[in-house]
Amino acid sequence: MPVTTTPTLALTRRPRRLRRNEAIRSLVRETRLTPDCFIYPLFVCPGRGVRREIGSMPGVFQLSVDEAVKEAAAAKADGVPAVILFGLPDQKDLVGSAAADPDAPVQSAVRALKREVRDLLVITDVCMCEYTSHGHCGIVEGDEIVNDVTVEHLAQAALSHAVAGADIVAPSDMMDGRVAAIRSILDDRGFDQTAIMSYAAKYCSGFYGPFREAADSAPQFGDRRSHQMDPANVDEALREVEIDLAEGADIVMVKPALPYLDVLAKIKERFGQPTATYHVSGEYAMLKAAAQRGWIDEPRVMMETLIAIKRAGADMIITYFARDAARLL
Ligand code: PBG
Repeated sequence: MPVTTTPTLALTRRPRRLRRNEAIRSLVRETRLTPDCFIYPLFVCPGRGVRREIGSMPGVFQLSVDEAVKEAAAAKADGVPAVILFGLPDQKDLVGSAAADPDAPVQSAVRALKREVRDLLVITDVCMCEYTSHGHCGIVEGDEIVNDVTVEHLAQAALSHAVAGADIVAPSDMMDGRVAAIRSILDDRGFDQTAIMSYAAKYCSGFYGPFREAADSAPQFGDRRSHQMDPANVDEALREVEIDLAEGADIVMVKPALPYLDVLAKIKERFGQPTATYHVSGEYAMLKAAAQRGWIDEPRVMMETLIAIKRAGADMIITYFARDAARLL
């Protein structure tokens, strides 16, 4: 038998040795995705038996409390440990009164979920934009969102979530001082065990577009540039995180995810604190739209996206893909 001798390069390092088969690749894999790092967003609306799909977010629904319970139970069964709730109130007004209403959709959903879905971790988004008639994240005077007055409203909303039984409250408004105010009101009222997940570095991003359809929270005039961060900044994100930790945040968040992985990596490295990131509606919508056209392989890019976020330093990921990804893992 003629033997063909393969020419051999004099190489001392051959990285491909560790990529030869799945067993070896798995042995040297540096980052692992597990469903226990996923947080699943739910949009809770009034009514019963409501399950309304959001046009720009295929597979995501506005759900009445009873349907939210079913969805959360199914997510839990898939291995997703936590949900984050957003509310669509019956009524909106100038000061977002429904934000702290004990019988509004979010507060009702928290009670139902804590009662009916065993061991589910319930997180609530705390912001005014879903509750104000103008769609802004706070109380507006003239064309200004007034910080300190807004903070009082946010603290009341967070308290109402804690009273309903939320495990974690997550202020997403980007007002100054809201973490301290929330910590203080929670402690005063005996909720010292309710944790705060702060949207600490939340950028003013076009990637929130589909969410504003989902939560009916688009600002009716102006934009969010006076409180959300300029996409160009990273030192500022570190300052925001430092302030929120000093005010008592237990978990800090970077949002959106993929366009800000550098920010996430720096924050994790600098502070070493529990760090979340939000893979937001527009990021989800882009992948869904391309997948629907057959332009990308959805499960593959979904997993690649989530592992990239984890690799960059996220301990937990808020994602509309939570159930799909958990089922694949
Ligand atoms: C504010 C809030 C927003 C998102 C989460 N909390 C919208 C905004 O700031 O305009 C966006 C989440 C997403 O896009 O998926 N309550």
